[in-house]
Order: sequence, then structure tokens, then C-alpha cells
Amino acid sequence: MSRATLHAIARHYGSGRQQITALDSVSFELASGEFLAVVGPSGSGKSSLLNICGLIDSPSSGRYQLDDVAVDRLNPQQRCTYRRRHIGFVFQRHQLIPAMTVFENIAYPLYLNGMATAQIRAEVNALLEKIGLTQRHRHLPRQLSGGERQRVGIARALIKKPKLVIADEPSASLDHQHAYASLQLMRELNREHGASFLIASHDAFVIEQCDRKISLFDGRRVDSDA
Ligand SMILES: Nc1ncnc2c1ncn2[C@@H]1O[C@H](COP(=O)(O)OP(=O)(O)OP(=O)(O)O)[C@@H](O)[C@H]1O
Ligand SMILES: [Mg+2]
Repeated sequence: MSRATLHAIARHYGSGRQQITALDSVSFELASGEFLAVVGPSGSGKSSLLNICGLIDSPSSGRYQLDDVAVDRLNPQQRCTYRRRHIGFVFQRHQLIPAMTVFENIAYPLYLNGMATAQIRAEVNALLEKIGLTQRHRHLPRQLSGGERQRVGIARALIKKPKLVIADEPSASLDHQHAYASLQLMRELNREHGASFLIASHDAFVIEQCDRKISLFDGRRVDSDA
């Protein structure tokens, strides 16, 4: 749903002689509802770029706009609020909360956003059914398989119907079949809710399922559209 516009984004880590340039003048546009892959070898800057796009990190320089909001100009609190409302994250290692049940993990973002309990229950139950884990809603993450945990992670990222979903190597810890199922689920939710997706991946299969890709090498865009 969100249209993201990034212009000349740079990210340096450290300072002086120790300084590392992870991103060097990266520009691109993510169209509303687009499913876009970010590819490149290890260390090319994919995660650095996704962290900036997800408002987890700020660029050293450059402009970043989400729809009509200049998100690079928000203060830390405004950034956090924007992220909580509008951005969902899928990680390589799901990062579920171990002491919470499947239901609670998925419901958590809705509690944070202050939704009423009855509505939370309805929304979570609908999504549990979609990911085929209705029977497991009382289980803890450690009682699930890796693929099931990843599905819960995707459900948690998508429950609040974010405008933008950031997925950093979402299939990296999964076998082919589970990677496929996870990707199908993301694609389905992309079509249903129109969320825009930004997906870093090494997986040829994942990349093939995306609408388009941008390629990074040494912190720079190297694809032909750059
Ligand atoms: N917090 C940090 N401090 C210093 N250097 C960092 C930091 N995070 C990343 N880097 C460096 O920035 C560069 C880009 O890293 P990044 O994690 O963005 O790459 P990546 O494309 O996601 O790699 P991978 O495929 O291995 O996940 C690398 O040289 C990395 O060592
Ligand atoms: Mg990475």
C-alpha cells in the first residue's frame, strides 16, 4: 500500500579510519503494493537498507519518503509510532516471544496498538485459520516446528495490516517446502491487503516470485535500472 521513495541513501558505520560504508548513494522506488526483492552477496548492504526502510535505523544521508511523509525527518518517537502502526517485519529467525503462546504472539502488535479484546480475538482467529494453526493456538513457540514458527512470525508481521512489510531473508532457515509455503502466505496477504513488500534474499526461488528486484554490490545498486 505504501509507496516508498529513497534518494541517495548512504549509511556509514563507525568513524575515522574504522568507518565502513555499507550503503553508498542508493536510490529506488517501491511502488504501492509491489513485492520487491533486494539481492546481493553477503555484506552488500541488504540488511542495512532494510533496516533503514523499516525505520529501525536512520541513513547517514539521503532522503526517505513513505507516501507523503518525509520519514527521515521524523523524531525518534514519531518514527517509532509510525513503525508500530504501519510496518511489519519478518525475520530469518522468527523472533517470537518464547513465553507467549502462538495466539499471544500474533495478537501482541494489536495489543500494542490498543485494539479492543473482542476484535483482537476475531482478527487473530481468522489469521490462525489461514496459516493452518488454529489447533495450535495455545502452544508455545518451542512446541512448534521451524516452518510453523515462521508462519506464526509472518502472521504476527501481517496481523495489523501494515502498509509496508520488511522481510530479511525470510526463507533462510527453512527447507524448500516451508520456504515455498511461507512465501505463498506473504504473497497472498500482499494481494489481499495490498501491502508493499521489501524482501532481502539469496534464494533464487524467492526472487523469482517477486515482481521485480534490485541488486546491491558493495553498498551500491548494480542492476540495470539503477
Ligand atoms: N552495526 C554495524 N557496525 C559496523 N559495520 C556493520 C554493521 N552492520 C553491518 N555492517 C557492515 O556493513 C556491510 C553491509 O552489511 P549488511 O548486514 O547490510 O549486509 P547484507 O547484504 O545484509 O549481508 P548478509 O547477506 O550476510 O546478511 C558489511 O560490511 C557489514 O560488515
Ligand atoms: Mg543481511
